[in-house]
Amino acid sequence: MKKKRILVQSSAGGYTIVCGEGVLRDAAREIRRLGKFSRIHLVSSPNVWREVGKRVLRGLGLKNVHARHLMNDAESAKDLFTVEKLSRSLVRAGIDRHSLIIAVGGGVVGDVAGFAASTCQRGVALVQVPTTLISQVDSAVGGKTGVNLPEGKNLVGTFHPARLVLVDSALLKPLPERQYRGGLAEVIKYGVIADAKLFAFLEKNLEAVLRRDPAPLAYIIPRSLELKAQVVSRDERESGLREILNFGHTFGHALETITNYRVYQHGEAVAWGMMAAALLGHEIHLTPADEVSRIVSLVRRLAPLPPWPEVPPEKLIDAMRSDKKTRAGKLRFVLAPKIGKAESHDDVPLEALERVLHFAPHFVNPAGKPRG
Ligand SMILES: NC(=O)c1ccc[n+]([C@@H]2O[C@H](COP(=O)([O-])OP(=O)(O)OC[C@H]3O[C@@H](n4cnc5c(N)ncnc54)[C@H](O)[C@@H]3O)[C@@H](O)[C@H]2O)c1
Ligand SMILES: [Zn+2]
Repeated sequence: MKKKRILVQSSAGGYTIVCGEGVLRDAAREIRRLGKFSRIHLVSSPNVWREVGKRVLRGLGLKNVHARHLMNDAESAKDLFTVEKLSRSLVRAGIDRHSLIIAVGGGVVGDVAGFAASTCQRGVALVQVPTTLISQVDSAVGGKTGVNLPEGKNLVGTFHPARLVLVDSALLKPLPERQYRGGLAEVIKYGVIADAKLFAFLEKNLEAVLRRDPAPLAYIIPRSLELKAQVVSRDERESGLREILNFGHTFGHALETITNYRVYQHGEAVAWGMMAAALLGHEIHLTPADEVSRIVSLVRRLAPLPPWPEVPPEKLIDAMRSDKKTRAGKLRFVLAPKIGKAESHDDVPLEALERVLHFAPHFVNPAGKPRG
């Protein structure tokens, strides 16, 4: 088994990501290295547990787990009520300050269990075992936890970095195809913002990656994690550098909001968002045409994507203005001067944005053909 260890710095101290196919088999030993815990509480969802529970228990050793808590991991249940239910279940099972919570699941389980871990008993230790591609390359690292309010996504939250993140690509086998492709959008994102070599690798090997061949996964997952680790180690609280991780996300979040989170999976919205951001970069004479074309061509290979919504551009611009990333009413976009480099812009002319919003719907559906 090829195992990779990646170190992440955080305000709560350094922690390790252990990554590779089969790393879960060593879970018990890795957790012992963290120290002694009074109790181990597993948090997962019925759906995730059905798919990967056996494998997780084999890795942890049954006798090490004191209680298992299954929560609903629908995005619509990522709220304070689910945090309350989970916290009550943890308390009833005897959680104390020296306990450990192990979150096994996608970003929803990770964000909710992380939030509960940071608030229960004013904070207990957390280990993340991500089971979707998005959570493996993104959400399990960086310490952000949180839930949604009816007013918006991820509006209540904390920073509570895990003590250890175990990323086992074998867990991805049962992941539905749409989920997997959405996760790949985030991998492409790392290539665009920070690693031209990763981007070129994806151009060359996307078919094998889509087939989930172990060899390309053994490169793209740890590489994405290294890039995320580098960024969050230098800027945990998103005062500057961390912003580049939002490439494609200003457009993506607007698409998600305007469709009430019902049409796109996050990664699909980011896929559209990256094509739009590439074009916007071109509109302001930042991104050269051949780079735009490479970005759009690679992202299009993730298709089918749900079509661009039938809404006037002004509605999308309104949604962008109410995004968390907006500062003092100014729209902010992460744009790429070239593949492998990203920077934040808050001075994009409105006309450039409007032109992009008129053109973007035709990236995947051939221009001129009615959408729908
Ligand atoms: N904290 C962060 O930094 C951060 C970053 C990115 C995203 N997020 C959050 O992550 C969430 C999205 O997470 P996600 O994309 O991982 O999806 P998810 O957690 O919503 O899971 C998607 C679906 O896949 C199922 N699933 C999970 N693992 C599986 C497996 N191995 N096999 C079969 N099915 C499996 C789940 O039960 C669920 O139905 C969003 O709420 C987003 O806000 C957080
Ligand atoms: Zn994202």
